[in-house]
Amino acid sequence: MRIFSSIPETSAALRDLRTSGQAAPHSVGFVPTMGALHAGHRSLLQAARQRCDVVAASIFVNPTQFAPNEDFSRYPRTLEADCRMLEAEGVDLVFTPTAEIMYPPGAATWVEVEGVSERLDGASRPGHFRGVATVVAKLFHIVQPDFAFFGQKDAVQVAVLQKMVRDLDLPVELVVCPIVREPDGLALSSRNRYLSAQERPQALILSRALQAAAALAERGEHHAVALLAAMREILQEEPTVRVDYVAVVDPATLLPVETIPAGALLAVAAYVGSTRLIDNVLLKRTDG
Ligand code: PAF
Repeated sequence: MRIFSSIPETSAALRDLRTSGQAAPHSVGFVPTMGALHAGHRSLLQAARQRCDVVAASIFVNPTQFAPNEDFSRYPRTLEADCRMLEAEGVDLVFTPTAEIMYPPGAATWVEVEGVSERLDGASRPGHFRGVATVVAKLFHIVQPDFAFFGQKDAVQVAVLQKMVRDLDLPVELVVCPIVREPDGLALSSRNRYLSAQERPQALILSRALQAAAALAERGEHHAVALLAAMREILQEEPTVRVDYVAVVDPATLLPVETIPAGALLAVAAYVGSTRLIDNVLLKRTDG
């Protein structure tokens, strides 16, 4: 596994990997990350390894997607352990740029995906998805992947990036991988490590609320308002958990739906202590 922080070295190494050896050109799969890797990231790496000839990953805690009051400075940085996981999963190349490399002095160009970027997490975290779209567009230009792998857990990020890829005709296919959960249902997140021993069981209320609403939908409940009420009722059982939003939306536009169409997205964001957690479920079709 080769590790680079420079853009020209990364591009040159990827050019070699793509074009050298038998049966070239080889397909390139890309897993962009902010490090602090966990089993959710491992599932993305494995999906990339299965599907692509060459696998590249990036580790970059992107400052432009954090608001000044957010956790940029204390975001976990675990480079050595991350590299061990990347190596074990057969990654060929890792790009680990600095902020100065990604944003040279005077950088003033942004990618703004209007509409979806302002909904759900975008409403609570203004500017967040401008930072995400900009850095991912830059990473796509540097790595030039054929496939890029993202987790369904970040459902809003997925909607924003799908739209960016479509609107800018970027030659990459996004592959969205299922949420990976702890055995008790907690969706894996790098931020779970902020939870205290007391908060950890409280955090289960998010997945419990989603599961209950999904079960209602599976039993034939068509009305979003009923699913929202069921989720809110369960979330209230944990008085220390502060709900940011609960939503039933179209997964592509993130606009609310009134009746449940195929594939509607049930989503929740809530603070457990000072840690903001998100989780979601993509509903199956209910025809009853
Ligand atoms: O999902 C993440 O870890 C980040 O938002 C991403 C896509 C690596 C961009 O910084």
